[in-house]
Order: sequence, then structure tokens, then C-alpha cells
Amino acid sequence: MSTLIPRSSFTLARISIISRPLICQACFHPHQLPIASGSRSISISARSRIQVDEPKKASLALRPEIRQQEKQSGNGKIVGSETKGAEGPHYQDQNHATTDILSNESSTGPWTMMNPIYTEQELDTIKIVTRTPETVADKAAHGTVKILRRAFDFLTGYKATPIPDEVLKQDPLPIQELRSKGLLLSHHKWLFRFILLESIAGVPGMVGGTLRHLRSIRLLRRDGGWIHTLLEEAENERMHLLTFMTIAQPSIFTRALVLGAQGIFYNAFFLTYLFSPKTAHRFVGALEEEAVRTYTHCIEDMENGLIPEWEEVPAPRIAIDYWRLPLNSKLIDVIRVVRADEATHRFVNHSLANLDQKKDFNPFALVEADAKTRGEKWGFTRKESSDFAQEQQLKLMKASQCQHEQGQLRIKQH
Ligand SMILES: [Fe+2]
Ligand SMILES: [Fe+2]
Repeated sequence: MSTLIPRSSFTLARISIISRPLICQACFHPHQLPIASGSRSISISARSRIQVDEPKKASLALRPEIRQQEKQSGNGKIVGSETKGAEGPHYQDQNHATTDILSNESSTGPWTMMNPIYTEQELDTIKIVTRTPETVADKAAHGTVKILRRAFDFLTGYKATPIPDEVLKQDPLPIQELRSKGLLLSHHKWLFRFILLESIAGVPGMVGGTLRHLRSIRLLRRDGGWIHTLLEEAENERMHLLTFMTIAQPSIFTRALVLGAQGIFYNAFFLTYLFSPKTAHRFVGALEEEAVRTYTHCIEDMENGLIPEWEEVPAPRIAIDYWRLPLNSKLIDVIRVVRADEATHRFVNHSLANLDQKKDFNPFALVEADAKTRGEKWGFTRKESSDFAQEQQLKLMKASQCQHEQGQLRIKQH
């Protein structure tokens, strides 16, 4: 067995985390590892342990207080409980559900992929950051995003111009006037924008994950931990879309746009990833910079009272379940966690774009960087990724060793 630490201080060649992450060096058996900092920094085994230990927490839809809240609400339902946009019954719910599981009654079970959970402090750290393009490919990726952004802004009637302070001080706020002048988006237009944005955003992770999956099969070689991170990103983006779908009534025009955009974008991104995965990840990083900018704008509008229709809108149930939000959360809390997710995609994709796409392993395969880092930095350089991976490897192995020694001690005492 080789040493725990990678041979070189500046290599991401897959000899460390991916090859033996959960194997205790003392007994060569896998252990459940207590992974430390960051609410997203959680191993697959730890995740499944939490879901087994806390089935009620994992299945919010079946909790009595939610049922009670549904009964007490005006129309008898929490927003989103009508199953539109929800994931439907989960096989693990069958142990707890008393209702007919085939009836598709609202129930969202434990999430089988990682679902992000944030603290309020973590959500406050998210910032708009921009990476300056360096190579020709970087410039092409950023340039394409800028062109797409302009077209998208035109289509959705969006203007990034901030509302002057003197206007914000007026009482009442001249909301209708600002909207009629095109200086302010209405809640309908924000939703239209979110749905178009998220329907596109769910594509790259799935395309990247699929292509790397096929490459692994084709070459009979391990992937280095990229596939799951990319699939989790796709799942996360799809949850954004499903969440907004619970409060939107997309018209046939919106649906047609989504269909057309998906058809074009899927194929264009597929070809880009096939020929230059680095450029594809850079493109996603730049796209996510814009997503953080857009959601920040929306949050500021909501905080300034410029979208009064959304002030009292409760968080959809699917969002409460997925992000483990408090039951009394509002729509603004949902948009804040969505923005934090976009900052993560920004960070991860820019970091992945800096790696050797064929040789390096994914430094975030088991442990992500903490939320503050993801919220404030555009990404890691290759050297930073290597250092981060080695640091996490040492932490994991130390925790495993410690747990093993405690187990041995307990056996001796008995
Ligand atoms: Fe998103
Ligand atoms: Fe995103």
C-alpha cells in the first residue's frame, strides 16, 4: 500500500482521494467518516447515515406539522403541495406513509443525490465576482456568454440599471411607472426569466457527466470523481426549475421557447464539450457569474419592496424539502439559496476549467470548498485545487484513523 499523501505537491493525478478515500489505512476497510466544515462538505456515507438516522427530517412532506400547516392555510395547501413541480412519491416513504403511494399524493422523499443546506451566514457571503479571461478559449467562452446575455435581456425585457436612491425613498414607490418605463421587471417577468435561465442551466452538467461516463466506459478507466459532481449540478439546476415551476404558469410561448432553446443549446454544448471540455467548463463558469448577478438583482429588488406581489409568498414545499429550509420560509429565502447554488456552480466550473481534463481528478469529489470560499472566489487555480485536495485527504484519513482507534479501544474495553 502506498503512502497517504500524493507523491508530488503539484499534481492532481488520481492517486489520492479517488483511489482510497474511505479506506482506513490501519485495517483497509471502509469507514463512515465524520467530515468537518461546510454544510455541503459531507461524504456519501455520512449523507446516507443522516438520512437513515433521521427519516422524519429526510421526509419533510410526511411530517405532521407540515400536514397541520396545510390544513390551516387558506386553501388547505402549502404552495407547491399540489405536486406540480414536486418529485412525487419516493420508495422510502412507504415505511411512513399511510396513504396510497400510487395516488401521487404530494410527498417528496429523501434526496438520493446531495442536497445543499446553508446557514444564514453562508448565504450572506455570496458576492458577484468576475474572472478575467486569459486565453483565447476563455475570451471566446466569456464573449459567447455576453452575447447570449444581451439576447436574453432583450427577450425578457431586462435592464441591469439600478433604481436611483431618490426614487427608492419615495412613498409609495412608483412601481407601476417604473415597470411601464421598462426599468423594473414585474414578478411575472422575473419568473419568465428564471424559467428560461434554469431550463438551459440544467443541460451542461448532464452533458458533461454523460460524456465523461462514456469516456470512462470506452477507455476502461476510472473517471476521477468528475461524473457525480456534474450530475449533482444538473440535478441541482433541475430543482431550481421545478421550484419556480410550482409558482409559475408557463404559457405555450414560454414552453416553445424552452423547447427550442434546449434543442439548440444541448447540441451546441455537446459538441463544445466533446472537442474542448475546458472551454465548456469555462463557459459554464461565466454563465454562472451572470446567474449570480441576476439573482442578486432580484433579491435587492425584493429587499427594496419593488416586487410587492412576492412579499408574503411562502417557500414552495419542494424548496423547503430540498434545501431543508425552516417551515416559515418565504420566496426570498428560496432565491437566496438558489443564488448560493449558482455561486457554487461558478466556483466549481471555473476550477474544473483550470485542470487537466484527462489526467486530473476532481478535487471536490468528496468534500467541497466551504460556502464562503465558493461565494467569494471565482474558483481555484490548479495549484489551489491540488493543495485543497491534499488537505482534505489528510483530514479524511486522520478522521478515519481516529475512528478506527476509538473502535479498537471499545473492543478492548468489552
Ligand atoms: Fe440555477
Ligand atoms: Fe447554476
